[in-house]
Amino acid sequence: MKDHHFRVPLAALALLLVALMFSPAVAQTSLSGPITPVPVIPICDPSPNLIYRITQAQVTSGQLTLFNLRKEGFRIFTTPFNKGDGFGESYDVNNPDHTSPGNRPTLQNNGTFLRVNGLDAQSCVECHGVASNASIPAAFGVGGVGGISTSPLAGPQNIDVDDSANNGFAFFDGRLINPPFIFGAAGVEAVGKEMTTDLQNLKLQAMLNPGVPVSLVTKGVNFGVIVYNSSTGLFNTSGVVGIDDDLVVRPFSRKGINHTTRDFDRGATQFHSGMQPAEVLISQGLPGNADGDGDGVVNELLIGEMSVLHIFSNLQPKPFVGPSTTPDGYNAFVSTGCAECHIPVLTTDSYIHNFSYPDVPTDPSANIYLSVDLRNPPMSFQQAGNGVAVALFADLKRHDMGVGLMESTGGPLDREFTTARLWGIADTAPYLHDGRAFTLCEAILAHGGEAQNARNAFVALSPSARNALLDFLRTLRTPLNPNQGFGPPIPNVNN
Ligand code: HEC
Ligand code: HEC
Repeated sequence: MKDHHFRVPLAALALLLVALMFSPAVAQTSLSGPITPVPVIPICDPSPNLIYRITQAQVTSGQLTLFNLRKEGFRIFTTPFNKGDGFGESYDVNNPDHTSPGNRPTLQNNGTFLRVNGLDAQSCVECHGVASNASIPAAFGVGGVGGISTSPLAGPQNIDVDDSANNGFAFFDGRLINPPFIFGAAGVEAVGKEMTTDLQNLKLQAMLNPGVPVSLVTKGVNFGVIVYNSSTGLFNTSGVVGIDDDLVVRPFSRKGINHTTRDFDRGATQFHSGMQPAEVLISQGLPGNADGDGDGVVNELLIGEMSVLHIFSNLQPKPFVGPSTTPDGYNAFVSTGCAECHIPVLTTDSYIHNFSYPDVPTDPSANIYLSVDLRNPPMSFQQAGNGVAVALFADLKRHDMGVGLMESTGGPLDREFTTARLWGIADTAPYLHDGRAFTLCEAILAHGGEAQNARNAFVALSPSARNALLDFLRTLRTPLNPNQGFGPPIPNVNN
């Protein structure tokens, strides 16, 4: 189906802009004064790069094979959005919020990007484009990691670049975040959803046994205790650890704040490119085809397009473990306590993985529109009982990592990160949330807080045991040639 972007009447806009351009009253003001946005010149009316559109009805119709659903998501992931697609947003200086997506200025009034608080890329693959950094040159791969220049600076108001405070470092009150890969995401999401279901059942159990502390253990991971108070009708969550009080496991983002990759993507498309998904508008009580970001383009990303993006992002090859000559490294990994957080394998109860829309975080069984078998390619997870083994090396839980790794947003999670999944770690330098560690050894030495003891145990190992541990980590590889099965590039970019 060919289905074009719906826009505000361009002729009217063109007339208005031409009138404005010839009006002396709106000549550009000085740099420090109020700024008139650079008008989009109608003769350069940009054509969209998303040349055809996917609705949710098409996704659920069964007309598209799973391969084609994935390929459509791959197209969304790799399309450089331009202004005809809805890249960017209008900026209202009178709106008190100048930092949230939907109302951000552009740098030096360039009219296109901001760079230091999003509006920083045209496509997902700009940042997720390196499959392996373990070779020179690096191996390109859609869905991979990014280096320091692709690390967004999220939400800063102040960056003390010249250390005017003279405190010995450049203060920064935003987040600097290095892009991780999205390989194997279906396995991670499936494990997370099963854990959520378990925890919701434990919460119910607490409700049925008022006053009795119920221990929140799922798949061997301990999230503390919850108690129900029947007289107040409230849960006491002061004993809940490493997870939000709603007991929803959120494996995605380095902070552990998104329950699915789709949930992450809803923020990502807006933050990076000003592409507003219809479902975000709907969740704000607006019509899905509203022009929420005021850039003159509506239907920037349809529900069906977010679905295929989700399907592509989830259904990719998974990282794998290469051969190792000795068990010493793995043994040292376990004996130093790394495996307490970096749990080598979490197993699902079912090999069926479901996609839902609208998704309900506390109820993964709601609104399922597609089910896939995780044992099938390209995911190819190994069967374990009625489920699959996901060798992710993580516990999907947040931990306090100490002051050294602490961020400075002033928020409650500044010291906390979800345990980094170590699968694929041989290929994904630089390491840690902001990419500060160029080597595995540096990444381990930066561990503090709850991981301080394991870090000290690593330092106390004999040099040969330490090297064996690092060699073991170097067997954890990203998939070879990921996502190369979609055929030749589509020759229709409207530059
Ligand atoms: C400017 C660079 C950049 C661009 C462009 C970008 N990402 Fe990311 N991506 C990141 C960073 C950084 C993170 C880690 C975010 C965090 O920890 O909060 C991330 C994380 C993710 C995650 C979560 C992965 C995980 O395991 O936690 C997903 C899914 C994702 N990105 C999808 C996308 C999609 C889809 C797009 C395109 C709409 C996109 N990204 C565009 C930098 C980028
Ligand atoms: C208390 C839980 C915990 C323990 C114990 C722990 N880690 Fe970590 N590890 C984390 C968290 C959380 C992160 C993410 C920190 C960040 O991004 O700043 C991490 C990050 C890493 C990274 C970087 C991953 C990446 O993709 O950037 C490596 C490598 C690593 N850990 C190895 C180890 C090793 C080896 C040990 C044992 C000596 C260990 N960890 C012990 C929680 C832990």
